Amino acid sequence: MPIPVSNALHKYLNKEEQIGGYEAEALYTETLNSIYLSAANLLNCSPSEIAFVESATRAWDMAFYSFKFNPGDKILTTIAEYGSNVVAYLQQAKRFGVEVVFVPNDEFGQIDVNALSNMIDEKVKLISITHIPTGGGLVNPAKAVGEIANAASIPYILDSCQSVGHMPIDVEEIGCDVLCITGRKYLRGPRGTGLLFVRNSLLNKLEPPILDQHAAELISPTEYLIRPDSKRFENWEQYCAGKYALGVAIDYALSWDLGAIQKRIYSLAGNLRQKLSQIDGIHSTDEGVEKCGIITFTADQLEPVIIKQALFEQRINVSTSKGAGSLVSFEKRGLTEVVRASVHYFNTDEEIDHFVDVLKKIIAK
Ligand SMILES: Cc1ncc(COP(=O)(O)O)c(C=O)c1O
Repeated sequence: MPIPVSNALHKYLNKEEQIGGYEAEALYTETLNSIYLSAANLLNCSPSEIAFVESATRAWDMAFYSFKFNPGDKILTTIAEYGSNVVAYLQQAKRFGVEVVFVPNDEFGQIDVNALSNMIDEKVKLISITHIPTGGGLVNPAKAVGEIANAASIPYILDSCQSVGHMPIDVEEIGCDVLCITGRKYLRGPRGTGLLFVRNSLLNKLEPPILDQHAAELISPTEYLIRPDSKRFENWEQYCAGKYALGVAIDYALSWDLGAIQKRIYSLAGNLRQKLSQIDGIHSTDEGVEKCGIITFTADQLEPVIIKQALFEQRINVSTSKGAGSLVSFEKRGLTEVVRASVHYFNTDEEIDHFVDVLKKIIAK
């Protein structure tokens, strides 16, 4: 988290400690509400289309599980789909007899938009894809997918967990109807925060799978009325300090300009990829025409977790991506686990040189 974001988190928690939870919320009502406008500015949508939740996964779930399916309906998705999303498709497949179809990749490893276009028929009830997968630097062509979905009037969910804060995301330009955000990744917000965008035109067609008295009003002992806006996907009880700090993180990202952030990240990532490509025994596992700030690779004879630990001992943090998160893609490519180095705009080319030097020593041992 950048200092203004962690300061906001501490400030809010201190206020809760000093005056109490309800009292802090009352004091900061206006600021807490301003996150909807900040998120709307970030995505080019209306504040009424935004919900605040605890994670990207829960945001996505709340929208996805609102769709109703009939036997034989099809959900079209990508090979690079996030594992949790695939679990949810399979659960609905089991419940409703939906067919889950993985659209093939093109020769670059991104979703094949021509194949997608040819697969559209009256049985397709949802197109749902991941923009940047958890286990690779690929950026799926979200806008081209949006054009196909919109032309066929099929709802379109974009899992943009790893792209928001990483690059400009404009829901009008992309044409998605639903989009999910996590606070803790490229937005540099606190953990335990997430946002959901659901297009106004879809809202009254989607009854959330879970309702409480914030999402719906109890108007008589036998009736409730669901709120008209995206807050129908929220809980009454919220992580207020996180909400406050996430709003600050969004404004902070906007103050740097998302186009400039993307340019800087892509430049650092390009540098790292190029240097990694010159190391014998290191193999890039990034696919796609457009490659982002997530750099993945494997090494001959060294397990990704060993590399991660050795880098950690040199105060370099990477993660590894394995198994369930990217199962469909990894199975197709014969991968089990990769090292994942994610750069952000605050990294430097000197740090990349250092990273490469340390990595070379680790694999030479
Ligand atoms: C593509 C994708 N979607 C969703 C998520 C889940 O995000 P969260 O942990 O905020 O639920 C991740 C996390 O790695 C991800 O990579």
